[in-house]
Amino acid sequence: MPLPNVWEIFHLKSSPYFQTTLQKDSNTKPLSLFVGRQRELQRLLATIGSNLGSRQAVAGRPGLGKTTLVQVVKDRARTASYWTADDFISITTESSGVLLGQLLAGVYDAVVACNPDADDDPAVEEAQQLVCSVRLRSGSMSVSVAGFGVGGGGSEAVSTPPSALILDGPRILRNLLNYALRKGAKGVLLHLNNLENLSKADTRNAADVLRDIRDSALMLDGLHVIVVGATDAVRTVVNRHPQIRSVFSNPIILKELTLSNVYELLNNRYQALQIDANKPFRNPVEDSVVEKLYDIFRGDLRGMFKSLEDGMQTLLLDMIDDAALPTGLNDLLSVLKKQNQEELKEELGPTRWRLVLQWAGADPGSIQTQTTLSNIWDLDIEEVSDIMEKLANSGAVEALPKRPEREIDYLLTGKVRLATLDHS
Ligand SMILES: Nc1ncnc2c1ncn2[C@@H]1O[C@H](COP(=O)(O)OP(=O)(O)O)[C@@H](O)[C@H]1O
Ligand SMILES: [Mg+2]
Repeated sequence: MPLPNVWEIFHLKSSPYFQTTLQKDSNTKPLSLFVGRQRELQRLLATIGSNLGSRQAVAGRPGLGKTTLVQVVKDRARTASYWTADDFISITTESSGVLLGQLLAGVYDAVVACNPDADDDPAVEEAQQLVCSVRLRSGSMSVSVAGFGVGGGGSEAVSTPPSALILDGPRILRNLLNYALRKGAKGVLLHLNNLENLSKADTRNAADVLRDIRDSALMLDGLHVIVVGATDAVRTVVNRHPQIRSVFSNPIILKELTLSNVYELLNNRYQALQIDANKPFRNPVEDSVVEKLYDIFRGDLRGMFKSLEDGMQTLLLDMIDDAALPTGLNDLLSVLKKQNQEELKEELGPTRWRLVLQWAGADPGSIQTQTTLSNIWDLDIEEVSDIMEKLANSGAVEALPKRPEREIDYLLTGKVRLATLDHS
């Protein structure tokens, strides 16, 4: 007996509201579901195509589609004979040696992914040994060995200290890139993806380590890099040091997809997930639902899909008949209000929950600063600052990108706006 699939009444194989990034060669989340973003795509690709090496950045709020955009860039680049790996690299902020190791590992993965018989070249073999030992090191940080783990008899597993990477890494990286170019690659494209959840201090460290490897790695011919992350973090990393600013293109700051893009996106997903081509899908939600959630989440697709998935699954489990009408706005919103309220109360505790209610009571969509909140809450600034940090960590408030000479603007997140919704 197959397990119950609540989406079957809409003739869908599985949830159309998955939150993962699209992926090359995926049956369920293929890149063909991608919509919009043509200008951004053009710009990223043209910069790669017009230069021997390039350094670009994609910034924006969480859930807008940054990672997915770069997945598509890699796919297009690969079709145009650039070598790339499907996975992305999480930048380390620990030391420039370790970062160099990660870049080397990224280029190595791209080389192996795009050229299956790469093993028999000395440049690749030497890179492979260093990469193995880098991976070993990041797997178990406690290993510490004075000396090189490379060049010996094949596969003995010895971790390489960062100093050795600084010494040997640049040459090996250069050789690897030259190998790729010799084999017909137009270049190698790396996707550095994690400037999202870094603390302020780590973001600064990331800027420092990038500067340190600028000439030995970032500027090499044949290497194209796209850095992805939250707007403030990307700005810090790119602008902190003139040496880095001068070699990066201006960051692309992503805006939300338009509402009609989102309808198209959903339609693509419904179609792709149809159980049977002869039995067309039924729209699971009314358009007004999509419109409202788009508005509440201000284009954060991940937040929006998560709500749709959670809310619909709850509703569908309780549904008695299988008429499969598209779900209406009020049904879904009341489920979501209840769910998010319970989660937030638990997460925030009574005091902070009360403060959030006070803010939402003023206007849930309002932009506040620590000064205005200190008035609303009748608390002094230090207390407000402490509370804001906690609210941000619980995903209840979002800081807008910092503007020069201005206080930081804060917004309640979609989650809070759902939990405090006043609908009839
Ligand atoms: N242009 C797009 N076309 C289709 N789906 C998209 C697009 N951009 C994002 N998505 C979907 O939206 C969700 C969030 O995208 P993601 O790239 O992870 O956002 P970010 O990296 O900005 O946090 C994912 O489920 C992804 O598949
Ligand atoms: Mg992302």
